[in-house]
Amino acid sequence: MKNNMNYSKLLNNYSRYPVEPVKGKGAYLYDSSGKEYIDFLCGIAVTSFGHNHPEITSAVIKQIESFWHVSNLFTSTPQENLAQKLSKQSGLDYVFFSNSGTESIEASIKFARKWGQGRNEIISTHGGFHGRTYGSLSATGQYKFWEGFEPFVPGFTHVPYNDLEAVKNSINKNTVAVLIETIQGEGGVNVASTDYLKGLRKLCSDKNILLIIDEVQTGMGRTGKFFSYIHHGIVPDIVATAKGIANGLPLGATICSKEVADCIKPGNHGSTFGGNPVAIAAANKVVDLLDEKLLNKIEQLGNTLMKSIKDLNLYAIKDIRGKGLIIGVEFINGISCKEIAKKLLEEGFLVGTSGDSVLRILPPFIITEIEISKFISALKKAVTDVSKKEN
Ligand SMILES: Cc1ncc(COP(=O)(O)O)c(C=O)c1O
Repeated sequence: MKNNMNYSKLLNNYSRYPVEPVKGKGAYLYDSSGKEYIDFLCGIAVTSFGHNHPEITSAVIKQIESFWHVSNLFTSTPQENLAQKLSKQSGLDYVFFSNSGTESIEASIKFARKWGQGRNEIISTHGGFHGRTYGSLSATGQYKFWEGFEPFVPGFTHVPYNDLEAVKNSINKNTVAVLIETIQGEGGVNVASTDYLKGLRKLCSDKNILLIIDEVQTGMGRTGKFFSYIHHGIVPDIVATAKGIANGLPLGATICSKEVADCIKPGNHGSTFGGNPVAIAAANKVVDLLDEKLLNKIEQLGNTLMKSIKDLNLYAIKDIRGKGLIIGVEFINGISCKEIAKKLLEEGFLVGTSGDSVLRILPPFIITEIEISKFISALKKAVTDVSKKEN
């Protein structure tokens, strides 16, 4: 593995783990030395069905052996089928396919503004993360991602998360939409309350404002429902999703109500690669596999994982939060989650981090109770070792 800057020609925009996966199978990855890792990161909430899933792989191979790309100028039954399934699961009407989370947010912003007929201001939240392209970045309420990239797209206001009054007070005659994550993944696995989300739904309806939910990280079963807003008994006007939708192939989807969709005409928006046949083949299989039984299992595995971490009763752990298989573990001041992640890596477990204090745990839906219990032992050891070192 040669990833130092003296050798590498790759742009230095990622802090990479010192591991090179060369093979994957189910919940396991193997590096070039043959070391085994249990994947509690899933490529950041992407490979939810694990690596080399037999049914998804064979759906992809079948499509690859036929054709890879023809463009969105042609009719596509697999795209139609996937759109039907996403419409049914979301409670919404029409779907636009792109290639990534940030693009699914860009489309949401454009569709909302088109619907708004001149109204163009969007309210989003502090700690939110919506992507790296200019519209999504302008909506992102974490200024550490902004530095040096000014000026931003005008028309975005950021307010505190989980604070309905703050949204109310920011609405003006130009406001067209509120954009929100039900769980802020990148921002530290901060969970929105049902009261807040129901309040936002009502507020948006009363004020004739669109509610856009960013389900890029929380969608596609991750929380134990197909989309996480289903837990709260609400339906937004626009949903953006990506990440887990095609188990690792690039695909984004923006799903919207008929009223929003009616404003979009041919030529208003598009993407050369969006809804690529190979990614669509994977996504159709992912959606078929995500049945009620599996969704219940995800919720139950999440409860087991969360309870097992709580039961460790470790002083260094300040808070444990999340839903289903997106779990954040926040550490007290002075305990670096990056150090914990490094220790876990040595023990053969991949995890993510949010900022300096929150460990982000995103295992695949195929994880077993045995693998969870191995992870819990490794976490206990990692936290104990790092706590000793820091004291
Ligand atoms: C909630 C949320 N929205 C949008 C994005 C951007 O997705 P992508 O990296 O696929 O552009 C992310 C990525 O982490 C995300 O977590």
